[in-house]
Amino acid sequence: MKTILLVCTGNTCRSPLAQVILQDLLAQSEEEDYQVVSAGLSAFPGQQATEKAIEVAAEKDFDLKQHQSQQLSSKMVAEADLILTMTASQARRLRLSYQEKAQLIYALGHFVQEKQTVRDPFGGSLATYRKTRDQLEELLSRAVVKLPQFFSQEGNSTRGQNYNNRSNRRDKVKIALGSDHAGYLFKEELKEWLDEQDYEIIDQGTDSEDSVDYPDFAGKVACSIAEGQAELGILICGTGIGMAISANKVAGIRAARCQDSYSARMARAHNNANVLTLGARVIGQGLAREVVTAFLTTEFAGDRHQRRVDKITGLEKELKE
Ligand code: RB5
Repeated sequence: MKTILLVCTGNTCRSPLAQVILQDLLAQSEEEDYQVVSAGLSAFPGQQATEKAIEVAAEKDFDLKQHQSQQLSSKMVAEADLILTMTASQARRLRLSYQEKAQLIYALGHFVQEKQTVRDPFGGSLATYRKTRDQLEELLSRAVVKLPQFFSQEGNSTRGQNYNNRSNRRDKVKIALGSDHAGYLFKEELKEWLDEQDYEIIDQGTDSEDSVDYPDFAGKVACSIAEGQAELGILICGTGIGMAISANKVAGIRAARCQDSYSARMARAHNNANVLTLGARVIGQGLAREVVTAFLTTEFAGDRHQRRVDKITGLEKELKE
């Protein structure tokens, strides 16, 4: 028997809904025996599911009336074979508290290789709750398909290590982030979104919209990469130009100003760029997220491109002498 633990904040909306949906999906599949439980990171024990959660569950013939919330405990974590949270921050928090189980803890979206967060419908309308229910149905039906592969890996300590590699990798990538005053608000918005995607952020400032000089922040981000504290960097100024020019003065830095996903992919694959620069006065947050995703998820292609990148490094040395 495998135990799947679903975790949200209060255990009155998302995780109880997820629990009844997953129980139903598993009952329909003919895989092995599963037990599904749910709990909250900050739950008041013994509370009923919210009225709206009960109502949208009932619309699909699920009974949530008997649900009683429970606070997540170490025992539950210890007994779980897989732990699925609603958001990446919840997964991160759990992994930090239960490092021995880190390989078995995923945000539901990441488990099915989707960058979706299941947002809290608490306080929202019935339509909001329906949206959450439908999102959970979709994500969980995809998760059910992945369970045999996940559980087929032998032994608790190795299980999960090879599963969903991209998600694991993403957890570990440290990104240095910097901006001047023109990019400050843009940086803050991007930082929140990157945090949801489970990236580790090293924010090198600036910290307000007060006027500053972009080379100071380009230097900080570039140095944190050159010194190995971060793997990749993102710099934002008004146009992205000043940041690129400045960062490229630091040895070992290959900064690329990209305003489209194709360029961002090529900057990584062909140029092994380690800094992306963006112009907050040029592109919007939506396009920037696509560009950033392309940049952060593309690997350097190596081979002939390595030879060319080596020549760039050679130029750096030649000019120094
Ligand atoms: C600041 O006004 C602006 O010059 C700077 O943010 C950037 O665009 C420089 O390249």
